[in-house]
Amino acid sequence: MADDPLILGIETSCDETGVGLVRGTTLLANAVASSVDEHARFGGVVPEVASRAHLQAITPTLRRALDEAGVRLTDVDAVAVTAGPGLAGALMVGVSAAKALAVAIDKPLYGVNHLVGHVAAEQLENGRLTEPVVALLVSGGHTEILEVTDIATAAELLGQTLDDAAGEAFDKVARLLDLPYPGGPHIQRAAATGDPTAIRFPRGLTSQRDMERHRYNFSFSGLKTAVARWVESAQRDGAPVPVDDVAAAFQESVADVLTRKAVLACQERGITTMVLAGGVAANARIRDLTRERCAAAGIALRQPRLSLCTDNGAMIAALGAAVVERGLPPSSIDFGADSSLPVTEVLVR
Ligand code: KG4
Ligand code: ZN
Repeated sequence: MADDPLILGIETSCDETGVGLVRGTTLLANAVASSVDEHARFGGVVPEVASRAHLQAITPTLRRALDEAGVRLTDVDAVAVTAGPGLAGALMVGVSAAKALAVAIDKPLYGVNHLVGHVAAEQLENGRLTEPVVALLVSGGHTEILEVTDIATAAELLGQTLDDAAGEAFDKVARLLDLPYPGGPHIQRAAATGDPTAIRFPRGLTSQRDMERHRYNFSFSGLKTAVARWVESAQRDGAPVPVDDVAAAFQESVADVLTRKAVLACQERGITTMVLAGGVAANARIRDLTRERCAAAGIALRQPRLSLCTDNGAMIAALGAAVVERGLPPSSIDFGADSSLPVTEVLVR
């Protein structure tokens, strides 16, 4: 609404420098600068490269966001920033910038949780969430199932990956198949002409025993090894590697496990809304299978557009707006970036 406070959100936890502007659940601007191209030749995000890129990008990205929203910095009522989790050096750039801005305009500062921010982003798409919700967050940095009972104050980590994030698995398998980085979109493209049933790759942590101990946890390193073995063995036999079948079968295994466990979490916690977010949520097969399984289980699926799924500043502004709306006290000016901030800490002190 027009009279809701104007919240500036800053995100620098990984390789995207994001600055967003939000009023209530209305998106006004979402400017993002990505350093993904600078990491491509290393096959993954290099923390030092990401930190330097944030330093270079933060001021121009802020300007772009203000222009896009047609507001001045002095119009901002509060500043929200990702306090963690993420890469320590990268987080520090955003936190320092946010502190400087908040002091300069003499407005309150809120250090908030990146993971809960991903869920809050959905409010910019379809309006206020009716909590509780289960969130399935899948990106290059995280693979988690969260239960959010109040977006501004209460979130719980139900499960997470024990090794690689789903996006990392896509990237590593792409490398095995000689596809470029980041691998997700290339795997999806190859999979489109492949047969997902041609090879049966393992489903990590789904055996009866694993389901007892790791009900909502994930593991993708065994899957990656299985793909590597399969490809090596095909190469040893001198046969051409059926890249499209391998991609399709791998993608099916990831989609199957992710959606199965997230739906189970909803059912067992009695929750009827799921939020799907993160860069890997761009994957067409993961989206389709989630939609299909949610529909079959009577779960409403909410999913923001892709630019709000990947890391961005608007999601942090959206969470900041919810926190401000609840009248919660701001963070102290001396809070630090916390690379392993637990999801239960929605707002840092
Ligand atoms: O959320 P995100 O943009 O960034 C961070 O993790 O910070 O996610 C990036 C990840 C990469 O691993 C990329 O390969 C994966 O998302 N990804 C996809 C697709 N598009 C991007 N994975 C599978 N299918 C896709 N279509
Ligand atoms: Zn993220």
